[in-house]
Amino acid sequence: MSNEFAGKVALVTGGASGIGRATALAFAAAGAKLVIADLNADAVAAAVAAVEQAGAEALGVVTNVARDAEVAAMVEATLARFGQLDIAFNNAGINPPLKLLGEVSEDDFDAVIAVNLKGVWLCMRHELRVMAAQRSGVIVNTSSVAGLAGLRGCGAYAAAKHGVLGLTKTAALEYARFGIRVNAVCPGGIMTPMLEEAEARRTGVLDAMTSLEPLGRLGQPEEIASAVLWLSSPGASFTTGHAMAVDGGWMAQ
Ligand SMILES: NC(=O)c1ccc[n+]([C@@H]2O[C@H](COP(=O)([O-])OP(=O)(O)OC[C@H]3O[C@@H](n4cnc5c(N)ncnc54)[C@H](O)[C@@H]3O)[C@@H](O)[C@H]2O)c1
Repeated sequence: MSNEFAGKVALVTGGASGIGRATALAFAAAGAKLVIADLNADAVAAAVAAVEQAGAEALGVVTNVARDAEVAAMVEATLARFGQLDIAFNNAGINPPLKLLGEVSEDDFDAVIAVNLKGVWLCMRHELRVMAAQRSGVIVNTSSVAGLAGLRGCGAYAAAKHGVLGLTKTAALEYARFGIRVNAVCPGGIMTPMLEEAEARRTGVLDAMTSLEPLGRLGQPEEIASAVLWLSSPGASFTTGHAMAVDGGWMAQ
């Protein structure tokens, strides 16, 4: 428990599960006030309760990040409740069934791009306007090792996650003069409901991902949360436009 983020307001999309939930709880433990945005209303309520139990204030907002009006409402609700937005972790994402690129349907491709790429842009669009007016703010976007290299069976996902890095770097350049830093975290295989679902769809996914990890294991969501907190902290004050692999060494191979 620290007070490093006391007085700060942190917004986490996809905050009701996995990496987002762990990060929301880590921000809460470090003194921040939380906005937890997610598509899943029941899970939002549960995550808000967990943050409050940890002693922090939390607002839950049911949001589809792929819809501009809902993203606008999410940011408006943040300002209405807390009056400021200091940190945004744009993390909501989906992971479609594994398929060769030639077998991916147009609908599946569009769905992944809508959430994993357009959703990050929509969130940044509204967050950056608020942060530019404040002349301060920090954004961390969730990319992936699939944003740094190709990943078999995940073509649309890899395209979206590479795109997130393009948005991240461009926003870092454009908004540096407003006192805003923008970075991305690139997780390796992390044990969350997303990977549990992938394993349920196709047995062996977890073993295959573990075999790609030099550390010989999958990561835990808390290990991504600690990187997000550092990128959001004053300790990272000279770090912007960076794609930080937190991947057990995957990208070192
Ligand atoms: N788990 C991994 O191995 C891994 C690796 C690299 C990157 N990532 C990325 O990390 C992020 C978090 O994934 P996770 O593993 O915690 O998965 P998760 O499934 O546990 O959590 C994702 C959350 O995003 C929410 N969500 C999905 N679509 C949404 C939408 N349109 N609007 C708002 N919320 C939506 C879901 O309801 C869920 O609560 C994703 O962007 C994912 O692509 C995960």
